[in-house]
Amino acid sequence: MGNRIPHGIPMTICNHKGGSGKTTTACNLSAGLARLDFKTLLVDIDPQANATITFLDRSIIDIHLGHVFLGFQSESGQFMRHPFENAIYETAIPNLDLAASNLSLSKLNRIIDSSDIIELYYAVKEARKEYDFIIIDTPPNLGPLLDMALLASNYYIIPIEAAYYPLEGVSDLDETIGKIRRIHKETLLLLGALVTRFDQRTKICGQAYSTVAETFGDKAYETVIRNNTKLVTAPAINQSIYEHAPTSYGAEDYSNFVKETLGRLKIAVDGRSLIAVR
Ligand SMILES: Nc1ncnc2c1ncn2[C@@H]1O[C@H](COP(=O)(O)OP(=O)(O)O)[C@@H](O)[C@H]1O
Ligand SMILES: [Mg+2]
Repeated sequence: MGNRIPHGIPMTICNHKGGSGKTTTACNLSAGLARLDFKTLLVDIDPQANATITFLDRSIIDIHLGHVFLGFQSESGQFMRHPFENAIYETAIPNLDLAASNLSLSKLNRIIDSSDIIELYYAVKEARKEYDFIIIDTPPNLGPLLDMALLASNYYIIPIEAAYYPLEGVSDLDETIGKIRRIHKETLLLLGALVTRFDQRTKICGQAYSTVAETFGDKAYETVIRNNTKLVTAPAINQSIYEHAPTSYGAEDYSNFVKETLGRLKIAVDGRSLIAVR
């Protein structure tokens, strides 16, 4: 199965504000697409590796994206780089593979050559032949790793925590996106802004949603991700929300988010048979 979309769709989940729900969204979007039979690759380029350890046991990861983008010294003393596919692992979820991160990737923020930021684009270009979706989880800062992800993507999604000043820093992100668009890629599109960690009981959350809706117009997702502790506990047992707590708010909200995402991409979902219309 898989590969019903002629060229896999790469998208970045980004917001350099930490705690905005990027990793939770990247993991449950990827798992949600995989559940619908889309062959999905989750690429973790955050050195904190939270998405990686959500779905993989650390002990099985011998090759990671640090070995791909930074290179390493072989036993014979030669400097080498692993090809991207060597850092890809199957997860326990059918149709979901993961390109593993490692703390060493943080070095890339300091030493990367501007010509190297294109490397992920080339890797993703190849992966698009294999996968229907490539979802990239990014670090909580602006820098070369985020540039790499955006450059490799056709779309980006901004998760925004329902909190005071929800848009703090979003203008800096806009600047980064503008730069990537101008220099490299005209076609990088915002798929939507997603409000996360929403608590219906607080006024602040309602105000945060209004601010996001006013700012992003129809790019604001109608789906809102409510606060749900099951979303916090699922990664600890290497599960997505759909296995961990299928009847929770978290599972309901992320399923709706996956459907809305497919709708925005004009990919029709008809029960379990999926028709790509673009
Ligand atoms: N909808 C939610 N309800 C409750 N907790 C959440 C929700 N979304 C994320 N969290 C928790 O908030 C913290 C930050 O979320 P995370 O997805 O890691 O954000 P980021 O990747 O942007 O730093 C994590 O502990 C996560 O489990
Ligand atoms: Mg994260």
